[in-house]
Amino acid sequence: MQRIIAPSVLAADFGHLERDVRMVDRSEAAWVHVDVMDGVFVPNISFGFSVLRAVRRATAKPLDVHLMITAPERYAARFAHDGADRITFHLEATDDAAHCISLIRESGAAVGISIKPATPVEALREVLPSVDMVLVMSVEPGFGGQRFMPASLDRIAALRRMADELNPGLLIEVDGGISSANARVLFEAGADVLVAGSSVFRAADPEAEIANMLHA
Ligand code: DX5
Ligand code: ZN
Repeated sequence: MQRIIAPSVLAADFGHLERDVRMVDRSEAAWVHVDVMDGVFVPNISFGFSVLRAVRRATAKPLDVHLMITAPERYAARFAHDGADRITFHLEATDDAAHCISLIRESGAAVGISIKPATPVEALREVLPSVDMVLVMSVEPGFGGQRFMPASLDRIAALRRMADELNPGLLIEVDGGISSANARVLFEAGADVLVAGSSVFRAADPEAEIANMLHA
């Protein structure tokens, strides 16, 4: 099983975005996680296309774009055009997940679907065979710096069992409240990809924190 660390630039210093993305580029992190929020699906607004393009210019690593926006099908193609290698949308944000999946596919990006903490894992059963990744939120989406919800561990394990049956190559990504202190239990529960914002960018040595998560 592979292990991937995806630092979230939401916690970067936007006055020094290029510097912070280049740090991730030098580190053992495999992907760069980019959180897009519209102020409707979540009670916060982060950034959009121009920031995505700036991140794109600063690294060759895959950009893992997490859309916390209502009706993501409206913008999937544009995120791919502006640099997203992987696009994850929320099951709760659309009336037509299958359509959204096909639009992302057509754009050439890898397809991810995410669920908030209150959405049952079982709700993913129908779409599971047609996505590359599921993002399990381990906090309420919208803000960095929240505390990891321990109930996420059972959700990851349940999803891994469902994936063994329906989509054995599925990647499971977890996002929210993750650091080198809980990385190991998350990998053991069945996670492949860990997203981390505050723990990386607030660390005295961010590259060491990334390495500590990877080798936890
Ligand atoms: C939250 C975002 C996360 C956020 C994680 O809605 O999806 O990616 O950046 O931040 P931390 O690691 O600080 O919990
Ligand atoms: Zn995220």
